[in-house]
Amino acid sequence: MSKIIAIAMQKGGVGKTTTTINLAAALGEAGYRVLAVDLDPQSNLTQHAGFDPDQISPSVYDALKAEVDGYESNAAGSIYETDEAFHLMPAQPELSLIEISLMNTLSREQVLRTVLKPIEDAYDYILIDCNPSLGLLVINALTAAHSVIIPIQTEYLAARGALMILSTIETVRRKKLNAKLAIEGILLTMADPRTTLTRDIQEAVGQQYGNGVHIFEQVIKRSVRFAESAVAGQSILAYEPRGQGAEAYRQVAREIVKKEAARNKK
Ligand SMILES: Nc1ncnc2c1ncn2[C@@H]1O[C@H](COP(=O)(O)OP(=O)(O)OP(=O)(O)O)[C@@H](O)[C@H]1O
Ligand SMILES: [Mg+2]
Repeated sequence: MSKIIAIAMQKGGVGKTTTTINLAAALGEAGYRVLAVDLDPQSNLTQHAGFDPDQISPSVYDALKAEVDGYESNAAGSIYETDEAFHLMPAQPELSLIEISLMNTLSREQVLRTVLKPIEDAYDYILIDCNPSLGLLVINALTAAHSVIIPIQTEYLAARGALMILSTIETVRRKKLNAKLAIEGILLTMADPRTTLTRDIQEAVGQQYGNGVHIFEQVIKRSVRFAESAVAGQSILAYEPRGQGAEAYRQVAREIVKKEAARNKK
């Protein structure tokens, strides 16, 4: 059974793309079959994985466009192998046009789900990198996903920044677009490397967002290596395999796998 996880947060620059690629690399390294989907017209994930968004075609755009235009979409044709242990469905800048076409489409929230259906079983994990908004592309990701990871910059906890995405998740459930959508967890990113007060931070988050929302044990610390790896077109696992950042994302991957195993046992 494939598990689809959306990485979503309406605020920009919180570590969505960084989390998507590094989790994809970590799950791939652990032996799982992984697909990373770039659902952001900025195409940062595509670049981060070493591709040129202006050159790569077909992309997720073509798959969605075919579906919108009433053709059978060929998702498999928009999937590429990377130099690392995961596959990529890239984005290209044209993806920004899709939201307008989606507006006038029947079941406009379910287009991505339909596109992914035929290739789902080829993967253990499908990770979807969302753009920083709560627009139709994000709603499509939330409708296609089993769960959501919400990255938050550790300093911005007090801003209650995750409340909007949490309420959007609630709407997706209530409107029966995806009644079973789960919250995989809030992932604290860009934490001060000197901070060791993980428990305090987690308690504060618990107070802000309610104890029902899981918070990953593993916190991602701030490190310039992440930006360097993006420029190099590699995950942090490939760029600095023995570094703290790589180890942190491996640990997040372990938490996800463990939760999944516990769930499947029930
Ligand atoms: N733990 C970290 N420490 C330091 N820099 C980081 C960390 N995680 C991500 N970054 C850097 O911060 C910037 C924003 O990260 P990223 O692109 O992952 O955020 P995003 O949420 O996907 O942004 P957007 O909303 O624009 O899609 C990037 O330059 C990235 O390399
Ligand atoms: Mg991004």
